[in-house]
Amino acid sequence: MFPEEAIHFLNAGPEKLIVDGTVGGGGHTRRILASGALTLGLDQDNDALAYARDRIEPSGCERIALIRSNFRHLRELLDECRIDGVDGILVDLGVSSYQIDTPDRGFSFRGDGPLDMRMDTSGACTAADLVNTLPEVELADIIYRYGEERGSRRIARAIVERRTAMPFRTTKDLADCIERVKPRRGKKTHPATQTFQALRIAVNDELGALEKLLEDSVACLRPGGRLVVITFHSLEDRIVKRFIRSHSTAEIDRPEWPAPKPNPEYSFSTVLRKALSPSSEEISVNPRARSARLRVAERLID
Ligand SMILES: C[S@@+](CC[C@H](N)C(=O)[O-])C[C@H]1O[C@@H](n2cnc3c(N)ncnc32)[C@H](O)[C@@H]1O
Repeated sequence: MFPEEAIHFLNAGPEKLIVDGTVGGGGHTRRILASGALTLGLDQDNDALAYARDRIEPSGCERIALIRSNFRHLRELLDECRIDGVDGILVDLGVSSYQIDTPDRGFSFRGDGPLDMRMDTSGACTAADLVNTLPEVELADIIYRYGEERGSRRIARAIVERRTAMPFRTTKDLADCIERVKPRRGKKTHPATQTFQALRIAVNDELGALEKLLEDSVACLRPGGRLVVITFHSLEDRIVKRFIRSHSTAEIDRPEWPAPKPNPEYSFSTVLRKALSPSSEEISVNPRARSARLRVAERLID
């Protein structure tokens, strides 16, 4: 998503050190490299990194390092490598087309595969573990909070009833169970879409990783360095929007205070006043991109 815009707003170029925290299919990584920048590429998915290593590293380029890691560990990683700051951080959140389109990874109800959904396949907990073991109330809570699914209680109850007879093993198994209690009623989207999103977010602790990266970006970015975040749903976008707002306000004012006070979190300036949305051309090529948003902030000089 946003191939040109992301590179433009990163200010990528020679002598810059740019982190691509979500290598995926390598589209952004290749463009960052092409700008002449030193590039540190991270992905928590072994398959994504193996793909990038096959496609990008053999070009003989010495300006790139690819590391398998969750971007939530970026600050620790830079400390270990004795890198005192970077000029740009890009994260393009969510799942890659490869992950969605590979039934064995268990992200999609379109093909039938194991109910897995781990981006990092060494992770302890799969989607099957969640649906087969969580108490009904916790399951409903996850489906409501991360999927914004209004039928969360009904779906959680159906899951718990079904699993007492036989545990869930496959994506189709779960999708069929949801469809039985949430009929399509002519809607285009599959009734399991929001529940699958919720489980994926929970399995990978996606919002926790995003919050940690945002907090750490203050320490990781050099003055003038850019933070570019591409989100795919409103839960993520809200977190990024609030972070940028709370860190780009010089003073805080409260009705009970006699005068405004300096904001201790003030560390960024906003580059875009509003989030960027995809063009209609991009949406026609990739309808999944409809809800994508790009936000940018620039690290202030301390
Ligand atoms: C939308 S794709 C990125 C696509 C990529 N920008 C491109 O141009 O091909 C998201 C990728 O980020 C990875 N990912 C998601 N959350 C991550 C995290 N917290 N740490 C590291 N990688 C993550 C996923 O494994 C996936 O490969």
